Amino acid sequence: MPASELVIDVLDSDAIVDAFYQHGWVWLPNFLSDELNTALAHEAQYEAQLAPAGVGRQGAHQLNQQIRRDATQWFDGRTAAQQQYLAQMTLLQQLFNRRCFLGLFDFECHFARYQNGDYYQKHVDAFSGRSNRVLTTVSYLNSVNAGGELALYDEHDKLIDKFLPTAGGLILFESERFPHEVLPAIDTRYSIAGWFRKNASINGVLDPAS
Ligand code: OGA
Ligand code: MN
Repeated sequence: MPASELVIDVLDSDAIVDAFYQHGWVWLPNFLSDELNTALAHEAQYEAQLAPAGVGRQGAHQLNQQIRRDATQWFDGRTAAQQQYLAQMTLLQQLFNRRCFLGLFDFECHFARYQNGDYYQKHVDAFSGRSNRVLTTVSYLNSVNAGGELALYDEHDKLIDKFLPTAGGLILFESERFPHEVLPAIDTRYSIAGWFRKNASINGVLDPAS
């Protein structure tokens, strides 16, 4: 749990929107039901074909173990649990479009696993004008006792808070605005990292795949 905890009920859309307007990030501790969380955690642990994650997009894609050491697999939408997760993200997308006019167009996400010693150095998920990622989401599929905290920083690189992954929790933040990092894991940590995107033309290429 984060130290300065903003506990918001996942059904309380006013509280979600208020917190988002005020801070640009929201922590929802009970985003996933136990049942859905268990199904997704099982899939991440036993069924997903997790492979070392890359950094960069398209031609620039490269494995960079200096920067990140997690193993990931993109959703293919084939299981009931993935479909249920995507349906829940569609509700969030509608909420943010209706109430915050973000123009979110679609959502992409992958399972991720961090094992003992794995980390993801400080980065931002989107650079202004160079990406169509608007909102980052991370759902945590298991609770860890130590290590693997998400450290979230503000625009001046000041630490906002560290979030110890807890099963069923979701953090959501503006992709361009908040540098963040995953501190070295101790316990194995499973999550779903995702991005709501706007449909933007970048360098004349319409809505490029990332
Ligand atoms: C990412 C990321 C944070 C986390 O995948 O881009 O920053 O807590 N993940 O897993
Ligand atoms: Mn990130």
